[in-house]
Amino acid sequence: MSNSYTRSEALIGKARAVIPGGVSSGNRANWTPFPLYYARGDGARVWDVDGNEYIDYVLGRGPLILGHGEPDVIDAVYRQLKAGQFFAGQTEAEIELADLICAFVGNAEMVRFCNSGSEAVHACIRLARSATGREKIIRFTGHYHGWYDGIAWGFSGVSANSDGSSSPVPMSLGQPSSDVSNIVAVEWNDPEAVINAFKKCRGEIAAIITEPIMFNGFWSNIQPFEGFLRFLREQCDANGALLVFDEVQTGFRISLGGAVEHFGVAADLSAFAKALSGGVCLAAFAGRKEVMKRLVETNTVHAGTYNAYPPAVVGALKHLTLLAASSGAKLQHIHHYAALLEQGLRDLGRQTQLPFLVRASPGAVTTAFRAAPTQVINHRSAAEGLDFSLQRAWHLALQERGVRITPEGLWYVSAAHSANDIAITVDAARGALQTLSSQ
Ligand SMILES: Cc1ncc(COP(=O)(O)O)c(C=O)c1O
Repeated sequence: MSNSYTRSEALIGKARAVIPGGVSSGNRANWTPFPLYYARGDGARVWDVDGNEYIDYVLGRGPLILGHGEPDVIDAVYRQLKAGQFFAGQTEAEIELADLICAFVGNAEMVRFCNSGSEAVHACIRLARSATGREKIIRFTGHYHGWYDGIAWGFSGVSANSDGSSSPVPMSLGQPSSDVSNIVAVEWNDPEAVINAFKKCRGEIAAIITEPIMFNGFWSNIQPFEGFLRFLREQCDANGALLVFDEVQTGFRISLGGAVEHFGVAADLSAFAKALSGGVCLAAFAGRKEVMKRLVETNTVHAGTYNAYPPAVVGALKHLTLLAASSGAKLQHIHHYAALLEQGLRDLGRQTQLPFLVRASPGAVTTAFRAAPTQVINHRSAAEGLDFSLQRAWHLALQERGVRITPEGLWYVSAAHSANDIAITVDAARGALQTLSSQ
């Protein structure tokens, strides 16, 4: 290793005595060589506490779509903090932000705010159950919908039962086993499996929840087959269930109108977080008025002390306004540079003997190492032949060269990335692949 991580190493050692694993979110623990500490972020760059500089493609795992420290967002947050931190009451900016989301997102007629993607998904599921009077949810294996008990089943696949059937695997110890009875986990991009799930649970399915693009895990950035989302829409309509889009990753990144605009398919309810807010802590769920109004017309509860936290609301409002300005020029910039990065990485893939794989969606690229001849279409196929030790070595080799990606190989691109950043990055990636080839 050429970078020094001495100070980070000392801090993580100290932290582990008082914070389990030294981290406050489990997925920060699998960093190479250990979780690092950061001192500063500016535009597309971050610096760790040892003074190492990185071109950042982690971007807070998605939210910082305008880059670190966007001055107008910071200014809006700061002014709101000075004017009044928090009232546990309403602020005018909340209405403006809800209006803006409704203007961008085709299926959004009403919006409520909360604090995380997990919460937003939780609210959508509760609403879907309230609206249908049913309890079961169809979800897809490998999709991530947050860490809450009821939905965190099947992220890492299914396990076989003695009678030949299969059950989704819980994400964690401590999840009540009874929750599994309300989860029907099927493979993504498999229409037959969806039809069978509806047949098997006739009249019991409240909703299908899906990531419109399968974004998470080591298998991320898998596109839906042509017509698959429309098929889900039709299946929901035919069976009296709601369609929920988990747009925590896709929202405001693949398009200002999210997956609904990108794919031209309307969900009944959608969950947003990450790129909604540009790095302030805010999430939202939105959908058809008839469903959303159940929050006032029926005893369908959504609450939260910090919901619509004013500094976050004004930050998100400024952030979305900037993202949309000049006909979405910043978002076009992001898509353009992500496509450049994708191209550069694909070219490297053609030059290396390693089983290097590149996939992309507008604004985000995935790299993986996978030695399997089958096409990647869902969790089952994506998990096949993945080389986790190469992935780890790749993550570290990039970090050593000043490029910061998620350990799972997801690269988010921001409006702060420049052509020069992409060129430096592709050079660094070339060097990293050469190092891996020679090991
Ligand atoms: C698609 C998706 N849904 C839900 C979540 C959970 O969001 P949060 O981490 O804000 O709770 C995530 C987080 O990465 C996500 O990618």
